[in-house]
Amino acid sequence: MIELQQLCRSFQVGDQCVHALDHLDLKIARGEYLSVMGPSGSGKSTLLNMLGLLDKPSAGEYWLNQTATSQLNEEALATLRRQYIGFVFQSYHLIPRLTARENIELPLILAGIAPKQRRPLVDKVITRLALTDRASHAPNQLSGGQRQRVAIGRAIVMKPELLLADEPTGNLDSVSGREVIELLEELNDEGITLLVVTHDQAIGDRARRELKMIDGRIASDSANQTISSIGS
Ligand SMILES: Nc1ncnc2c1ncn2[C@@H]1O[C@H](COP(=O)(O)OP(=O)(O)OP(=O)(O)O)[C@@H](O)[C@H]1O
Ligand SMILES: [Mg+2]
Repeated sequence: MIELQQLCRSFQVGDQCVHALDHLDLKIARGEYLSVMGPSGSGKSTLLNMLGLLDKPSAGEYWLNQTATSQLNEEALATLRRQYIGFVFQSYHLIPRLTARENIELPLILAGIAPKQRRPLVDKVITRLALTDRASHAPNQLSGGQRQRVAIGRAIVMKPELLLADEPTGNLDSVSGREVIELLEELNDEGITLLVVTHDQAIGDRARRELKMIDGRIASDSANQTISSIGS
């Protein structure tokens, strides 16, 4: 599903060049569940933004379902994003003046789906996320866990194949955090490919495949360790 080849992303800050991603190779198959850990500044969010087609590589290639994405224009990237990718952020990124329901509905509106078709899709997600009695609340009338559930609803309403979560439990207490992770894991059980960036080792350990990043590179990948330990 996903292949990164020698992917680089550097940022020029004054006369300094920061290599946020440094010749990174990575393959992810459909349905995998990965965690991404590593120190602050190691490139985890840059990697997620890259996988989510929110940012472009400085060099290298990102293949998404057999499409080389590095030369695509903004419109083509937006289409791929809508079709394949859902994003969940630590700080929810909900639109404050829209209700929970309207936030979840927004990607369908942007995709040009007619109101009559939107309604059952949104209803299904709201029921699924146990948000029925909060659907008409604004984000600032919701708890952190509820806000994150709305953000997950918005991320999955288009039925993406890939769900990218950047520290999704970072602002939550441990109980709401566990609920959010369990919800993401249920979606993975149903077939969605799931990548979770986290600083929490206990959450990182739940994933079937663990990546550790250091200095813009993948310093360890539990998938490779399994292969090499079988080989030895
Ligand atoms: N827009 C930008 N401009 C300049 N430098 C950037 C930019 N975005 C990221 N960087 C740099 O790239 C490196 C990787 O940043 P990134 O946000 O990916 O780290 P991270 O692993 O997600 O860290 P954290 O755990 O703190 O969220 C850092 O050194 C950061 O300063
Ligand atoms: Mg980050």
